[in-house]
Formats: sequence, C-alpha cells, structure tokens
Amino acid sequence: SANPCVRAYNQGGNGIAEEFEDVKRSDFPAGFLFGVSTSSYQIEGAILEDGKSLSDWDVFVRKIGNIKNGDTGDIATDHYHRYMEDIEIIHSLGADAYRFSISWPRILPNGKSGGVNAAGIMFYNSIIDNLLLRGIQPFVTIYHWDMPQVLSDKYGGWLNPLIQDDFLHFAETCFKNFGDRVRYWVTINEPNTVAECAYERGKHPPGHCSPPLGNCSAGNSDTEPLIAVHNMLLAHAKASKLYREQFLASQILRGVIGMVLHSFMFEPLTDDEHNKEAADRALAFNLAWALDPLVFGDYPPEMRRYHGNELPKFTSEERLLIRDSIDFIGLNHYSTLYAKDCIHSSCSCSGSACLPGGDRAILGFVSTSAENGGVLIGEPTGMPRFSVVPRGMEEIVDYTVNRYDNKPIFITENGYSSPLQQDQLDGLQHDVKRIEFHQAYLASLARAMRNGADVRGYFVWTLMDNFEWSFGYDVKFGLYSVDRATLNRNPRSSAKWYRNFLRNISSNG
Ligand code: NOJ
Repeated sequence: SANPCVRAYNQGGNGIAEEFEDVKRSDFPAGFLFGVSTSSYQIEGAILEDGKSLSDWDVFVRKIGNIKNGDTGDIATDHYHRYMEDIEIIHSLGADAYRFSISWPRILPNGKSGGVNAAGIMFYNSIIDNLLLRGIQPFVTIYHWDMPQVLSDKYGGWLNPLIQDDFLHFAETCFKNFGDRVRYWVTINEPNTVAECAYERGKHPPGHCSPPLGNCSAGNSDTEPLIAVHNMLLAHAKASKLYREQFLASQILRGVIGMVLHSFMFEPLTDDEHNKEAADRALAFNLAWALDPLVFGDYPPEMRRYHGNELPKFTSEERLLIRDSIDFIGLNHYSTLYAKDCIHSSCSCSGSACLPGGDRAILGFVSTSAENGGVLIGEPTGMPRFSVVPRGMEEIVDYTVNRYDNKPIFITENGYSSPLQQDQLDGLQHDVKRIEFHQAYLASLARAMRNGADVRGYFVWTLMDNFEWSFGYDVKFGLYSVDRATLNRNPRSSAKWYRNFLRNISSNG
C-alpha cells in the first residue's frame, strides 16, 4: 500500500492478513465519547462497609473451585477507598466519559423491602460530582451482575418474574438519586452472558448448569437461560418506561437509556451455505435474542423456529412495553468465532467449546485450532475463545446497523488481555499487543462509521486490572496494572498510548 502507516496485522492465524491504517482521534466525529469502563464488583472491594450487604458474588466466590486461585472481590482494587485517585487517573487520560456500575447491595442492602443505604448513595454521588467537575460524563450501568444475596435467595436470581419489580425499584432509586446529573443509563450489562454463565455453564452465581456446557447439580440449561433473559428484558422495559415517563419529562437533562450486550461476531468456517446459515443463527441467538425484543417487541424468528414453545412468550401488553425501549445499543465487542453447521453434519462439543443458546445441534461453533484443522481465526489472548480479529468490529457494527436501522450504538467495552503469565511482568507493563489491538479495532470501527454507522462512543475495557470473574486476578485487561500487594496503580504503555490518542497525537508517525 502507498500509505507508509499501513502494515500487516495478524499474519499467521488463518492466513488472512489484516491491514490497519493509522487511526487518529480526529477520524471520529466531534462529540464522539471516548472513555474507560469498569464495574462495581470488579473494582470496589469494601464488601461489608458502610451498610453494604453481601452480593451473590460475595457469596459465590467463597465456594472452593468457583474462582481461579480462590480469588475474591473482597478488596478488589479497593476503589471504594481510592476512587478519588482513580478519577484523577481517568481525568489524566483525557477521557470524555467513564462507564461504571452501581452495586445493588450497597444502595439497597435488602432489596425493595428495606431502606435505602445513605452511605451508598453518598459514595456514588461523590463519584458523579467529581467526574462532572472534571468534565467527564458519568455513563452508568445499573446492574453489572452483583445482586443482593437476599434477593438471589428469595427469587433464585433472575428465574422468578418477581425479581422484575425489585429491579425496577433499584433502577428507580438510581434515577431519583442520580438522574439530575447522569445523561447515559444502561439498565443491564450483558444479559446474554448472565444467561450463559449463570444458568448454562455454572460459572457465575447462582451457578446453575447442565451438560454439555457444564456439569452441576442445579439447573436446566435448556430453559433456564431463556427464562432469565425473559425476566431481564421485562425488568429493563419497566425501568425504561419509568425513566422516560416519570423522570425524563420532569428533568432538564435529556438523558438516554439503553442496554449492553456481549457481541461476538460469527464468521462461517467455510463458504459452505450451511455454515453461512450457522453464522447467521449464531448472531441471532447471541445478539438479536435481546435486541429484537428491545427494538421490534419480540424474539428473533430464528430463535422461535428452533426453540418452539420453550421460548417464553410476551403478552401483547408486554410487547408494547418492551418494543422501542432502548435509545441506544451498547455493544461489548472483543472477538469473532467461526460458526459451523451442526444440523447437516455432526458436531460434538464439550465445555467451553460448545456454543450457548439451547439445542447445540443447531448451532455449533469452533474457536480452537483442534476443531479447525490446526488453524486459529486470530491470535489468541488471555481469555479462552477471545482471539484478535479486528475486522470483527466493523462486521458486528454493520450487522447491528442493518438489522436495527442504524440505531445509535456505543461500543461500551473493547479490550485485550495478554496470554502472558504473571512471571513475565515486563511484557505485561510494556503492552505493545494491547496498543496494536486498540489501534486495529478502532481503525475497523472508523471504517464502519465511514460507511454510515451511527456510533456515538467507545470505551476501553478496562481502566485497571481487576477481578475478572471466574478467572480472578489472573486475566488482566487494564490500561493500568494494579500491584496486588500494595494496590498501587501503574500506567502501562497502553495508558500512555490512549492519552496521546485522545490528544490526537499519533503514535505511528
Ligand atoms: C464483559 C463484562 O461486561 C466485563 O465485566 C468483563 O470483565 C469483560 N467483558 C471482559 O471479560
């Protein structure tokens, strides 16, 4: 290519060399929000301080075998005590926005049947005020996976429809206390991941699962994930209606409300028509599962066809309630998987090699080289199934634009974890791969936007290394590393790169 900044990316892998252009902040429109993303349980710590009750995660991590190395979020990154330092860091990066979540048990220790914990409200008020003082927009996720254990016990987590009203009360408490200053609301983070990890693989609380994805005593993985998502969608829809009708109208702030989905891109393993259909099905089962109801008012026809009566039904009233209940789509995008047809040819899978979403026979996907004749779709990372496939960003955005008529999108998470181990700390601090990852994915996003996609913002996952759920502290996504002994935050090379990028200084010449 004539552009000296173009270089081959990701050669090897499946042999598709991806090229990326130098990418600059000025390639994105004015008003586009750049930020960093975190969540309460992953960073706060202070598990029982100032009136907070135990969350389902606080309890789940205590069971031997649930979390790598027996790690817990008891202390996490101690953000509860160090949030001012963290806000200064976010400010020093030059971020326009900061996405964080509210700990449900910190503000409502007993759910809707108990009182509001004033200390919890004060904590988030202080975060919001201090962000705004520095010109940083708070981008608030209401539920990012930590619910009061008392509610999990009472309802079995998301399986009982009664949890909808408890969530509604939680959301209302957030709107009432923070809604005068928060413009960006996400009701629920990744309901598809909650369904998969909590009700299908047994990896998140309440730890339900059944074969072939997981092996545990509780759960029915054919129906529970479907029921959990159904309740999350209705809980969202009620909160969104309340926000629009009771809060938006009476407030000066023109806030927006949306939902965030985990969004793998799927590519057919070969050009075979059946594999192409499998890729389409996988996209519908993963992304359209929630987005079709939120935009059109009902589940995707692809899912209805395969799940039949197992898929819950919305009443006509509920359809009206849920339809058009988001102002924007939040995509957490990390990677692409190959999809392989398992209807016309036989597939076998076990554990993480199986695709979630009900009857495995209709889906099937491959991500490991063993399942794909020794070839990987992209360079591996520190997370199983996450490989580096920058073109997937443009593809998943295109898919979303086409299916949902160019509804506004935020990339609410995108990030890289190194496959390097603890003892290779140098490599982790000078994280060239993470910089390349963000540059390549941002260039891919910029291509989608040049083609007309209405994308409004991009958030790096994550500000600093934190509690990566079942992987504990072993998987590190941070622009800053966190010393587990001192809890000191140290900028990686990628933090310096992001700061320069946000000042529109190109690091590629
Ligand atoms: C999705 C989740 O929202 C976040 O909590 C998690 O840490 C990242 N992706 C990385 O796995």
